[in-house]
Amino acid sequence: MPIMPTICLVPGDGIGQEVIPETARVLAALCPDMRFTLAQAGWEVFLRTGSALPEATVHAVAQADATLFGAIQSPTDGRVTPYRSPILDLRQRFDLYANLRPARGLLPEHPPIDLLIVRENSEGLYVREEESDGETAVARRRITWRASLRIARVAFWHARARGGREGRPPLVTIVHKANVLPRTDGLFRAAAREAAEDFPDVQVEEMLVDAAAMKLVQDPARFDVILAPNLYGDILSDLAAGLAGGLGLAPSANLGDGPVALFEPVHGSAPDIAGRGVANPVAALLSGAMALERLGRAEEATRLRNAIHAVLYAGVRPPDLGGDATTVQFAEAVIHAL
Ligand code: NAI
Ligand code: MG
Repeated sequence: MPIMPTICLVPGDGIGQEVIPETARVLAALCPDMRFTLAQAGWEVFLRTGSALPEATVHAVAQADATLFGAIQSPTDGRVTPYRSPILDLRQRFDLYANLRPARGLLPEHPPIDLLIVRENSEGLYVREEESDGETAVARRRITWRASLRIARVAFWHARARGGREGRPPLVTIVHKANVLPRTDGLFRAAAREAAEDFPDVQVEEMLVDAAAMKLVQDPARFDVILAPNLYGDILSDLAAGLAGGLGLAPSANLGDGPVALFEPVHGSAPDIAGRGVANPVAALLSGAMALERLGRAEEATRLRNAIHAVLYAGVRPPDLGGDATTVQFAEAVIHAL
């Protein structure tokens, strides 16, 4: 574990510019030995330089022990062809194939939800291979044995590490739609079943993605770890985030087998509230807590989560949770609670 870890901050666009600096301030208060670098990515830098992901940023991410990414804004005009999503590019360049999205209800009004969605992050429909002749449009959805097996191992590993809940053994729910897509989703399911053999202590079940969406709403507490191909994982994790209090609370991690690790709130640049200083920083702060765990600072991560919890329970809440705390006020309250 790094002695003086470096976190690369990439605030990006919109509210990324508000929540990431405040998260850095909280992390600096928590870990005085932490070092920070600052790098640019997103729509603003694309307009200025012609590149949404400058090489200097790729270098800074490669050098850092962890990267904290804010959010980027996508062009509303789909014709801006040279623009490529920097977050998708970073995932590809560093083969960050595992997208971890925990969903946990933090407030008394939230349902009892405490689950982890492990989303395949390198293929599926996100290979971005589409064609259209104006009459018919086709998108390619690639599923490979190798990518399915490695993401399944991540899911089982995390299920084991979580250790089950309330006296129940760890459970992995494999989500697919193999009844309609027997070749692609069938391959994903078969690879997941093979990975399961190395984890006899973890229970396995399968669920069709549509049924999983319904069960998530009806009985979220029954889930522990959900393993899903890229698009299903993307959609179900927003659903789970909605159940657990909204995008203002939802963190995520992008991991691979190499040293690069990227942490980001699930939310986007939120142009409707950007610049007003009212963005909820909890999703970014919880992403910071995930980064701390990765850096071997589990104790500090727990302290940070407890402080966030204490602040929310003390009634300091941003507008999306019904309060009137600004981004800065919330971060200051967390620092005070630490
Ligand atoms: P969004 O997540 O930016 O916003 C959706 C809604 O949630 C908005 O009403 C927003 O105000 C609210 N919200 C989001 N985060 C919040 C926070 N921390 N505190 C309080 N309220 C919050 O998604 P939207 O509007 O669909 O997309 C806006 C832009 O962000 C688009 O250009 C989109 O492409 C991009 N985007 C980027 C992502 C990323 O960087 N990973 C992820 C999702 C969207
Ligand atoms: Mg999404």
